[in-house]
Amino acid sequence: MSEVHVFEHPLITDKLTRMRRISTTTQEFRFLLKEISELMGYEVTRNFETKLVTVETPICIGTFPMLKQNFFTIVPILRAGLGMVDGLLELMPFAHVGHIGLYRDETTHQPIEYYFKMPQNVENSVIIVVDPMLATGGSAADAIDSLKKRGCKDIRLMNLVAAPEGIKLVQERHPDVDIYVAAIDERLNDQAYIVPGLGDAGDRIFGTK
Ligand code: PRP
Ligand code: URA
Repeated sequence: MSEVHVFEHPLITDKLTRMRRISTTTQEFRFLLKEISELMGYEVTRNFETKLVTVETPICIGTFPMLKQNFFTIVPILRAGLGMVDGLLELMPFAHVGHIGLYRDETTHQPIEYYFKMPQNVENSVIIVVDPMLATGGSAADAIDSLKKRGCKDIRLMNLVAAPEGIKLVQERHPDVDIYVAAIDERLNDQAYIVPGLGDAGDRIFGTK
């Protein structure tokens, strides 16, 4: 079974509380999401493997750790996942970015894929799938299915707010994928929105409502 990492860092929880407020503007919301994504990135990348390399410092020659892998791909689930990309790129400016377009059908709440574009040889990449909201879990689970169909193996999922239902579904369908979240909320409402949540993340990031 995969691990679920919940961030309890006061800087992250403070920023998330600001994002939840209905009065928070689009500009503030977007900025806070970028900041939280960067902070979460430290933990998501913590178990990246390193290898020892020989380096000549101005003083002497020594062996020191560097990242073993050099191919990392951040995969936002459109639209709202886009809001988490820049924060992670601050930490990993060398990362590639692949995009998966999914939207939830308004009545069935089932995800429908409309776009998929990955870097070449993505199957050799370490992948971080990002989406602020893990509600029913259908979008994240389908996105990971699509990546696995292309041969991807090393996948992590990073969300801002998760419902227990979403975590359960992703763990059932992808027991090999660790999940990183800033908060696990109470439940879903009858429209499959997270309660208390923060509303529609895409609309709040892009100012579409
Ligand atoms: C939201 C969110 C996730 C999905 C989560 O996207 O960004 O992708 O819902 O719900 P789930 O866990 O129940 O699948 P939405 O479908 O609203 O699309 P948008 O980002 O284009 O607004
Ligand atoms: N998508 C969102 O943007 N918010 C939710 O609460 C659930 C799905």
